[in-house]
Amino acid sequence: MSEDFGFARAAERGITLGQIGHRIVEENDLTRVWEVRLEPGEELGFHIHYHPYCVISLGGGANRIETIFGEEIATDEPLGHTVFIDQKRPIHKLKNVSDTLYLSRLIEFKAQRWSYVDDPSNARPQADGSAPEGYAAAFREILTQTADLPWEPKSLDGLSQKMLWRNEETGASIALIRFEKGVGIPNAHAHASNQFMFCLSGRYRYIPTGTTLVAGSFYCNPVGSVHGPTIADETTVFLEIYDGPHYPVQPPWYTDPKDAH
Ligand SMILES: [Fe+2]
Ligand SMILES: [Fe+2]
Repeated sequence: MSEDFGFARAAERGITLGQIGHRIVEENDLTRVWEVRLEPGEELGFHIHYHPYCVISLGGGANRIETIFGEEIATDEPLGHTVFIDQKRPIHKLKNVSDTLYLSRLIEFKAQRWSYVDDPSNARPQADGSAPEGYAAAFREILTQTADLPWEPKSLDGLSQKMLWRNEETGASIALIRFEKGVGIPNAHAHASNQFMFCLSGRYRYIPTGTTLVAGSFYCNPVGSVHGPTIADETTVFLEIYDGPHYPVQPPWYTDPKDAH
């Protein structure tokens, strides 16, 4: 797909982009719900979408989408018509070309935000190279010097960690994990999310399969896939990432439930 979403064309034509709907009905951290309401012949002006979205018609008929490049897309959106858009589209407008009121709910999914290279609303450094206005307020980066963090022992002797990042809502986490030589996970088990490990040093082995991780090895165990028991043939350090909760239930080798997180 072309990477030109029409910002330059809009600027040439002196077009200021408008909202993607007429009013916000409901909004929370995850979604924003808009009402779109077009009388017959009425138009919602040029706009672009920054999130994937779903449109559910509460009534209507033929509509016409016209992109900033002049491409026309005919749609028919009677009551109950539902469409999910998960791809960026160029700047476009929408016209009700039926003889009936078009009313819909457009639900934006805010977890994913689309950006556009030539979008003038992108934050840019100021002319003198300093940070854009509002930049400090929007500063959300985290920098951790892992050498400054202590190794925290887990409730399995010889296993310790430095937790680097956790999402308490989803259970996802990124941590440094250290197994002392001779230590391992004693049982076969599966995880409740995808597990990724990058071995920084040492030698670590999945006993039944012989799968062995050394410095530089990247390992992925998909959610639900059984592996282990394991053994560290040498003291081993991993960067370990889970994209959700670590275990379906607290495994027997941890006495502290926090260690199963
Ligand atoms: Fe749109
Ligand atoms: Fe595991």
